[in-house]
Amino acid sequence: MGKPTGTRPPAVPDSKTAHDLMSVLPMTAEVCDGRLCIGGVDMTELAREAGTALYVMDEATIRHRLSEYVKWTRYHWPDVDVVYAGKAFLSLDVVRIVEEEGCCLLCASGGELAYAVAAGFPMERAQMHGNNKTDAELADCLDAGIGRVVVDNFEEMERLSAMAAGRGVTQKVLIRVTPGVEADTHDFIMTGAEDSKFGFGLNQGLAMRAVKRAIELPGLDFDGLHMHIGSQIFALHSFAKAIEVIVAFMREIENETGVAVRMLDVGGGLGVAYGAPDEPSTVKDFGKVVVDGIKEECERHGIDVPRMAVEPGRSIVANAGVTLYTVGSVKEIPDVRTYVSVDGGMSDNIRTSLYDAHYEALIANKADQPREMVATVAGKHCESGDIVVRDAPLQCPEPGDVLCVCATGGYCQSMASNYNKQVRPGVVFIRDGEWRWAVRRETYEDLLRCDLG
Ligand code: LLP
Repeated sequence: MGKPTGTRPPAVPDSKTAHDLMSVLPMTAEVCDGRLCIGGVDMTELAREAGTALYVMDEATIRHRLSEYVKWTRYHWPDVDVVYAGKAFLSLDVVRIVEEEGCCLLCASGGELAYAVAAGFPMERAQMHGNNKTDAELADCLDAGIGRVVVDNFEEMERLSAMAAGRGVTQKVLIRVTPGVEADTHDFIMTGAEDSKFGFGLNQGLAMRAVKRAIELPGLDFDGLHMHIGSQIFALHSFAKAIEVIVAFMREIENETGVAVRMLDVGGGLGVAYGAPDEPSTVKDFGKVVVDGIKEECERHGIDVPRMAVEPGRSIVANAGVTLYTVGSVKEIPDVRTYVSVDGGMSDNIRTSLYDAHYEALIANKADQPREMVATVAGKHCESGDIVVRDAPLQCPEPGDVLCVCATGGYCQSMASNYNKQVRPGVVFIRDGEWRWAVRRETYEDLLRCDLG
């Protein structure tokens, strides 16, 4: 197993208050009258008014992160698309924010595409990827007039070509390449290595065959290459290495086919701080390594610098979000551990059980008190593995307290389930001191709606 997603601190009280956790909280977080506030909204009051469990997203942080990507990539080269990966967190509001910030949108399924369409997103700025797109999904892409389809295998390429040619249209495609680089991250979310279900490998000549086929097939316009080497990556050298490999491949393509690669999409993957000690690379450094790296490699190989794309997901939204829960019970097992049970769990945050992820937790209504104990925050599901935060330094919890789990803006709501027929929490967006429902909490009627029995 590679690097876990978030540094787990030693299981001892660390006396930290919310002031020491600002690196994992939204940029607008502060402590007012001893309570945690985000964007001028008191989290304790919000929990009482809107109910818990509740996902809270800070719009200012999302916009700031998107604008940082735009700034620090285009600082080095004017033609860079910042393509937000909707899988990290998708709602109509977020699609509109992405549009307003001048960014593009990456869809991973027909469902995500439906959000882009419903939000009125300019479809030429959208792209679709996935290793097994159905005919229906490919048809949806063509109907919507999507900007680019990232082609993942030969069968899909043939199907898309036939469908596009049949409609008399030409679809821009990127060929997904697995550069054979092992990213420094958790094994489950490492995607750029040779043994991967995604994309065409370079070594066996598959990627070159795919490019040649895309060039010759009707209905397809070969626009360029795509790669994605993994997620929650701290070490930028993995990106630098993959860029070396893929730009060398661009040179080969030009040599063998005479066709220039117009677009190079290097995927997402920049890591974020889950634990207070985590120090992920900055967007500024990412921009330099990636964009400058591509420029330098192109110069070295004597080819034109292509249009570029980056596809951040987690690093846009993770630290923009928190989850609020209400403490139901505090169970102290002498000499073993203390369990703090909350009104949510693995249905709203599966990442702890799935990846052994670690999060920082605090009590929102005791935000300026030191975390003087260690407790395990447990969910309410019928499974011992239903843990939200294991061995969390925490302020002394009592039933009724509002417990805040930090950095849950990415891959929590989007991976939520209805296990135990738990309704999924709503999502509140915060902007300029006001909160609004972006996604309402589910009801039991919602659960029963699809059951025809
Ligand atoms: N582009 C492609 C093609 C991807 O597959 C992904 C993520 C991204 C961009 C965005 O990567 P990011 O910047 O968010 O790292 N469920 C896992 C993460 C899976 C990521 C899948 N692909 C988790 O909860 O950590």
